[in-house]
Amino acid sequence: MEHNFEALRREFPVLQRKTYLNSGSYCALANEVRAAFDAYMEDRLLVGANWDVWVTKNESVRSLTAKLLRASPDEIAVTASVSAGLNALASALQFTGARNKVVVSDFEFPTNAQIWHAQEPRGARVVHVPRDRDGYIPAQMFEKAIDEHTQLVAITHVCFRNGAKLDIPGIVRLARAKGAKVLLDCYQSVGSMDLDVKALDVDFAVGGMLKYLLGTAGIGFLYAKASCVQSLVPSNSGWFAQADITAMDITANRPAPSARRFEAGTPPVVNCYAAEAGLNMLLKVGTPAIERRNYALTRRCMQRLEEIGWPSITPAEDSRRGATVAVPSRASARLSAALMQHDIVTSHRDDNIRASFHFYNNEDDVESFIAAMQELRATFGPL
Ligand SMILES: Cc1ncc(COP(=O)(O)O)c(C=O)c1O
Repeated sequence: MEHNFEALRREFPVLQRKTYLNSGSYCALANEVRAAFDAYMEDRLLVGANWDVWVTKNESVRSLTAKLLRASPDEIAVTASVSAGLNALASALQFTGARNKVVVSDFEFPTNAQIWHAQEPRGARVVHVPRDRDGYIPAQMFEKAIDEHTQLVAITHVCFRNGAKLDIPGIVRLARAKGAKVLLDCYQSVGSMDLDVKALDVDFAVGGMLKYLLGTAGIGFLYAKASCVQSLVPSNSGWFAQADITAMDITANRPAPSARRFEAGTPPVVNCYAAEAGLNMLLKVGTPAIERRNYALTRRCMQRLEEIGWPSITPAEDSRRGATVAVPSRASARLSAALMQHDIVTSHRDDNIRASFHFYNNEDDVESFIAAMQELRATFGPL
């Protein structure tokens, strides 16, 4: 059943005022998510102590995230950020043996390279896979970098700079052939497209709830495949990572048998309320329908940009891109500010502005964006 997307748009007040094309930075806020924040305040103001509800909210986020990724709740750690999940995982890996190499790509969000470089004093060697001449990184480019010394291939799904999507199955095949594990940073894809960590056959995945998952900052997840969890003991730990949180045992570290061992302290409770509401909303719409709509909107946007003579740098093939369309500009920060004057919300990275689409956008948004770009082309277009 196709959804009534126009009715869904009314759940996001900012869409009445703005052409909102910034979901790759953060989502538009839904009334239901606001109500969840209000519910947290009500609980704190009127109920006072409500520890059991707090724990339930955290568990609810875990289950909903598992459903979204097609994983089991035992394979999900609810974290405070992508960075927190990566640090917990990194702390459980050893880099002193022959398998000390971490392969990343030049499409990484900084945190998924910096955290691996931070392991260099512990023996890690970080190798970057560069772009090809056309700006894309096809799977073959990873072939030279992934070898029998590779412990982990840590790669983004969709690049935050240019919207390019990596060939994950192709890269996973190369990693498997050399016995390396794969970590997927899916923050720029999760919620904007259908994502099945089992079908992708990755060992780990990280993401967060601020962008396409309709939630808020300060909450994310780490997926760790069940067969990987038991052998990994994070030294980044805490009482919420223990097998029995209520044991309050100060004599030993007894990590949970599940991926909860990658958590740390008191959960980000207020963010759990918001994330739960966002995830419920997103799952109700369904990621297959969202993916279809996002591809249709981005395809249309890219066609229209071609027509006005200001083509995007995002790969044209659906298999090579996500929900962001990146457009080159001679002054991207000023272009983004000028678009804001037209009530069009975008962001900018490097020499590009980013227009990120979600299911709550429509063709009118594409046309408003194109009309403004046409007007601004002489001042801000590519040189
Ligand atoms: C692909 C990607 N990874 C990681 C991050 C950072 O995540 P966090 O701030 O939760 O550590 C971002 C944030 O924009 C991102 O786009």
